[in-house]
Amino acid sequence: MDSDAPRPTTTDLEAPPARGVAPTPPARLARRLRRILSLEDLEPAARGFLPRPVFEFVSGGVESNASRADNRAAFAELGFVPRVLTDVSRRSQATNLFGRTYAAPFGLAPMGMSALAAYRGDLVLARAAAAANLPMIMSGSSLIPLEDVAREGRTAWFQAYLPGEPERILALVDRVERAGFDTLLLTVDVAVSANRENNVRAGFSTPLRPNLRLAFDGLIRPRWLLGTAARTLLRHGTPHFENSYATRGVPILARNVLRDFGARDHLDWSHLELIRRRWKGRLVIKGIMHKDDARRARESGADGIIVSNHGGRQLDGTVSPLRVLPEIAAVGGDMPVMFDSGVRRGTDVLKALALGACFVFVGRPFLYAAAIGGEPGVRRGIDLLSQEIDRDMALLGINSLAEMRPELLMRIGR
Ligand code: FNR
Repeated sequence: MDSDAPRPTTTDLEAPPARGVAPTPPARLARRLRRILSLEDLEPAARGFLPRPVFEFVSGGVESNASRADNRAAFAELGFVPRVLTDVSRRSQATNLFGRTYAAPFGLAPMGMSALAAYRGDLVLARAAAAANLPMIMSGSSLIPLEDVAREGRTAWFQAYLPGEPERILALVDRVERAGFDTLLLTVDVAVSANRENNVRAGFSTPLRPNLRLAFDGLIRPRWLLGTAARTLLRHGTPHFENSYATRGVPILARNVLRDFGARDHLDWSHLELIRRRWKGRLVIKGIMHKDDARRARESGADGIIVSNHGGRQLDGTVSPLRVLPEIAAVGGDMPVMFDSGVRRGTDVLKALALGACFVFVGRPFLYAAAIGGEPGVRRGIDLLSQEIDRDMALLGINSLAEMRPELLMRIGR
């Protein structure tokens, strides 16, 4: 160390590093956010804030939650073998993706009905991500018109579930293009609706059915009832599914209306190729778990894929995407291979990058953050994850994320 340089005090050494996403000074944080010290703290906080049906919808997996559990278990089976004395003072987590440099190697995954959990949820998530120079993917199952989120939220990523018929597919693609999005993401692990028993048990359905139980669940969560539900109804009217198709869908709260999921089980690669011919922007396929599908996606003109089991919310028992990531990355060639499902820590991000992902997305924690703390809440989550990555890089002995190689990992346990 330079002898003229001021010696660091213990406090300096313990202070959070200022690299990656510039953190909000703790003094300017609301008290409830100061108590959030990691993404893992967000779930218990949201459990006490959201009505049970809404919390269960967000937190739940499917059937026995085997996939959701494996998403965490797969990370726990990997440990680090750090290097020391490597001069990590030049470290940076800035990451290039599709020709753009983001502040960190993670973004916000698409989550349907975000505006039910958080007031103007999609906008809150989009704005916080834009302010931090990170991507946020807007969900097609959302309750705010995509045009508004593109304009006010400054996000350029839109996720669609494919409607069943070519005319409806193309009409939606044209609408997304008109709104100015440049990246279209197709989620393909949804041939039929998942068997979400936990939603049924918790009284969650789409649309929500007004009844005494729902009223009671809302009344015992007054901050959500006033700050999210009543505020939304008064200012914006009853939210509708705005973006599943080119035209507006059903309301989120209705006694006798059925949501039009449309039949999707006949969709195949030809539908993807149809979109590829129409959509001039970047096309990303989300929900790839098999290396042959990764290859097929590339051959069909995809610009990137997200290896994902949908956060363990579709086919229960699907392995964690971390387990198939290396073989998928091996066939990806120069096509960006991204990852989501179960990322909660900076160490998780680095493990996924070591196994071949170039970028990761995080879902539930950021929606919890939006629910309990709005935009500053999401910002707090982003800051914490970015600070963890920075600290982990230093302790691992690396300056750039390209150095995050499998040699720094070791399989442990089981
Ligand atoms: C999702 N996910 C999702 N995916 C998608 O492609 N379109 C969608 O509309 C939704 N909706 C959605 C709602 C909620 C409440 C959750 C929690 C998740 C899946 C999401 O994009 C992502 O794959 C997972 O959330 C990643 O796992 P973690 O980070 O939540 O563990």
